[in-house]
Amino acid sequence: MSSKLFSPIELRGLKLSNRVVVSPMCQYISDDGCSNDWHLMHYGQFSMGAAGLVITESTGVSPEGRITHKCAGLYSDAQEVAAKRVVDFCKKFGAAAIGIQLGHAGRKASTLPPALGGRSLTRDENAWTTFAPSALPYAPDWQVPKAMERSDMDKVRADFVSAVQRADRVGYDLIEFHAGHGYLMHQFLSPLANQRSDDYGGSAGNRMRFPLEVFAAMRAAWPATKPLGVRVSAVDWVEGGLTLEQTVAFATELKKLGCDYVDVSSGALDPRQQVPFAPGYHAPMAARVKQEAGVVTRTVGLIADARLAEQIIASGQADMIAIARAAMWDPRWAWHAALELGTEAQYPIRATPCLPKLRPQIFGTRTA
Ligand SMILES: Cc1cc2nc3c(=O)[nH]c(=O)nc-3n(C[C@H](O)[C@H](O)[C@H](O)COP(=O)(O)O)c2cc1C
Repeated sequence: MSSKLFSPIELRGLKLSNRVVVSPMCQYISDDGCSNDWHLMHYGQFSMGAAGLVITESTGVSPEGRITHKCAGLYSDAQEVAAKRVVDFCKKFGAAAIGIQLGHAGRKASTLPPALGGRSLTRDENAWTTFAPSALPYAPDWQVPKAMERSDMDKVRADFVSAVQRADRVGYDLIEFHAGHGYLMHQFLSPLANQRSDDYGGSAGNRMRFPLEVFAAMRAAWPATKPLGVRVSAVDWVEGGLTLEQTVAFATELKKLGCDYVDVSSGALDPRQQVPFAPGYHAPMAARVKQEAGVVTRTVGLIADARLAEQIIASGQADMIAIARAAMWDPRWAWHAALELGTEAQYPIRATPCLPKLRPQIFGTRTA
């Protein structure tokens, strides 16, 4: 059987050996935004496991853009040096390309990590001022953000550009712009969080204006050979929230600006959301974005089964799939999925002794 999941894909000058991506996962363990030994182990194991691409956790472009005090950042020289140590390590020993997700948490900044309750920080916990399109909190008991003025928006755009330049120096192969999961860009896109009366609020076209401005500035600062993708929350799962049609329109505009893929996720903007969780539940929405915006898509969400992943790609619903918890559970997910699908993923040289085809006594004819 020839697997579509394990067929290569090219995004600009980056050739990925397969269509499995390790999804970004916040670790809440950085030291003043700097990666440390945990990140060597965490990303090192994934880069060995032969997904085509590993994307590191959502990384704040400014101190106030981080979710928690322990989140990663890419706005200081020390953070750049620390990130380079991890990327160099993964590239030296691993088999995967390495991308970074850049984000700004907006009104969801200044919180405790989810495992500690995920609520807004108090003054005693060194809370900081949060920013958003409108002065509307995420939840009634959360910090009320400052409604952004044009100067605040200019600073955010400049912070993204500066982080892009740092990401290039670090050596990342790809950047993912985080415009989903209820963070700042999603706050601009959603009518539930954006109630501005200027050119950046109101119609869907106005609401996407700032995310598109930031994307265009990032694209201009990132080498033409390197891919820049975007993660979106396609819908809010709340009455009156962002619609799939509006997301398709956003993806269409992103494509015109040189976006290399759109990752289709959903939700996390409003605690009232009702999400119909099921394996691969974002795939039909990714298919709509792919067909109607004509953009390369990736999808994510409860994909743990190799055959489901294969089916999503083979049926043309998406061009790539991302796995988060399945990768935590089994950092060698891609090796095992390839075996199940009758093919072979990449093995870094030191891992080749365990190749199934070299152990027919155990794997028999299942080997590719
Ligand atoms: C521990 C953890 C941290 C996460 N952090 C991020 C993040 O930094 N950026 C992001 O876009 N999504 C983040 N997510 C969401 C995942 O990338 C993914 O979209 C979600 O978990 C659904 O995929 P799964 O069912 O394969 O886990 C996180 C998920 C987990 C479990």
